[in-house]
Amino acid sequence: MIRIGRRGVLGGGLGAAAGLYFGTGVAIGEWDRYPFTLGVASGAPTPTRVTLWTRLAPSPLEIDGGLAPRALPVQWQIAEDERFCKVVQQGTAVAFPEAAHSVHVDVAGLAPGRWYFYRFHCGRATSRIGRTRTLPAEDARVSTLRMAVASCQRFEDGYYTAYRDMAVRDLDLVVHVGDYIYENVYTTGARPRLAEIPSHLRADATDLQSYRLRHALYRLDPHLQDAHASAPWLVIPNSDEAAEDGEQTPSDRRSAAYQAFYEHLPMSAVAHPNGPSMRIHHNIDFGALARLHLLDTQQFRDDQQVHDPARSMLGASQEQWLRRSLSSTDTAWNPIVQAGLFTPYDLAAGAGRDVYYASWNGYPAARQRLLDDLAETRARNPVFLSADWHTAWVNNVPADRNLDGLPVLTEFLTTGISSSAASTSHLTKPSLPENPQVRFYDENSGYTLCTINASQWRTDFLAADTSDPGGAVRTVSSWMIESGRPQADQR
Ligand SMILES: [Fe+2]
Repeated sequence: MIRIGRRGVLGGGLGAAAGLYFGTGVAIGEWDRYPFTLGVASGAPTPTRVTLWTRLAPSPLEIDGGLAPRALPVQWQIAEDERFCKVVQQGTAVAFPEAAHSVHVDVAGLAPGRWYFYRFHCGRATSRIGRTRTLPAEDARVSTLRMAVASCQRFEDGYYTAYRDMAVRDLDLVVHVGDYIYENVYTTGARPRLAEIPSHLRADATDLQSYRLRHALYRLDPHLQDAHASAPWLVIPNSDEAAEDGEQTPSDRRSAAYQAFYEHLPMSAVAHPNGPSMRIHHNIDFGALARLHLLDTQQFRDDQQVHDPARSMLGASQEQWLRRSLSSTDTAWNPIVQAGLFTPYDLAAGAGRDVYYASWNGYPAARQRLLDDLAETRARNPVFLSADWHTAWVNNVPADRNLDGLPVLTEFLTTGISSSAASTSHLTKPSLPENPQVRFYDENSGYTLCTINASQWRTDFLAADTSDPGGAVRTVSSWMIESGRPQADQR
C-alpha cells in the first residue's frame, strides 16, 4: 500500500473504505477524498501511440490540489474492451509535485486505426474510464473522419452544454483551437456561472499556482470531462493560455502559463515546455484522407511594429515547416488549424478601411506568403479551421485583399463553447454588410462538427444553450465542399 502525504489520505486500517464508491463506478479506496476529480483525457495520437492524461487532485481548488509535495505512483491500463478483459498494456507512471501531480503516459506499440479504453489507479482509487483511438495507418484508405472543433470557453459566461452534446457523438477527434482557459474573470454583466468561482480564484492568473487553479476550475466541469473522456484531443493555445496580452509578456509569466497548460492537457512529450517556449505546431495524418496542419500564431509573431506590413505571424522556421508539411502531403484534404481570422475583413462601417491587427489581417505579407505556399505546393483541398471571435463564420478566402475576389479556399471559423459573443459582435456587426466574403455569421455559442470523406467535406454549425447545462443543442447551418472546389455550398 502506498503512503500518501499529510492531507491526501486517512490513516491505515480503512479496509472498509475499499468498498466505497464515489459517483459512478469509481472506487475511492484508502483516499479520504477522491483524487481523480479532474477526469481523464487522451491526445496526440499517431498510428501506434497515444498520450493518456490524468492529474491527482483531491482538493482541486486548493494549492497543490490538496496534496503534499511528494511523488506518487499511478498505475495505468489500456484495453481493447470497456470491461478491461483484454488489457493490452499497463504500467506505472509517477505523478510528480513539480508537474502538479499530473501524468502523461506516452503509450507506444498500439495497433493503427482502432479504439481503446483506459483508466488509472492510485492506491485503491480508480479513475473513470476514457475512450481513445489511434490514427489510421499511414496512407490507409479510411472512409470517414468525424471531428469536432471547439474554442473559447470562458467559464463564467455559460455552461458547457456543447461538450455534453459532443461527448456522445462518437467522434474520431476533438480539436481545440484555443482560449481553453482565460487568465481573467469578468465580474460584471450577465455571467451565469460567476457564483461558482470562489473569491480566491477571481484575480488574474499570473503565476504557476494561479494558472493551475484556473485550469482546475474549468476542468471540474462534468461535460468538459465527458468530452475529454470520449475521444483523443488535439490542442493549440491561443492568447490567454500563452499569457499574450498584446504587450511584451514577461517570460516567467508565459513559462507559468505554458507549464500549467501542459500539465492539464494530453499533449505529447514533444510539447513539454522549456521555460517560456513550447512546441505547439505539428501535423497529423488521418490515413490518406486528411493532414491536419496545426499552427502556433502566438510565440513567433512580430508584435513590435504593429503597422509594419512585412511582419511575420508564424516566424521563418514555422513558415518553412508549414511549406514542407504542405508539399509532402498527398491527402485528400488539408485543414489548416489556427486561432485567428484568416480571410481579409474590413472593420470600418462606411468609408475607409480598418483591420483587426492581431489577426492575419494585420500581417498581410505573411498572409500572402501562406497563400502563395498553398498555391505552389498544390496541397489538395486546403480548408481553414479558425476561431477567436466567439461567433461562427463561413468565409470565402480570396487570393488577395479584394473582398469579393474569387475564393481560393474556404474558412470555417468556429464559435465559442461558452464565451459571450458580445465581446466581439459590436466590432463585426456594423461592418458585415460590406464584407461579401463572409457568407454565414451566427452569434450562438456552440461548436463545429466536420464530417469528411474522400469527395466531400461537410461542416455543421451547432448552437448550444449555455444558460442551462441541460439546454438544447441544435444545428443552425450546414455547409458542404466538394473535393476540387474551393467554395462551400449551404445545404
Ligand atoms: Fe476567446
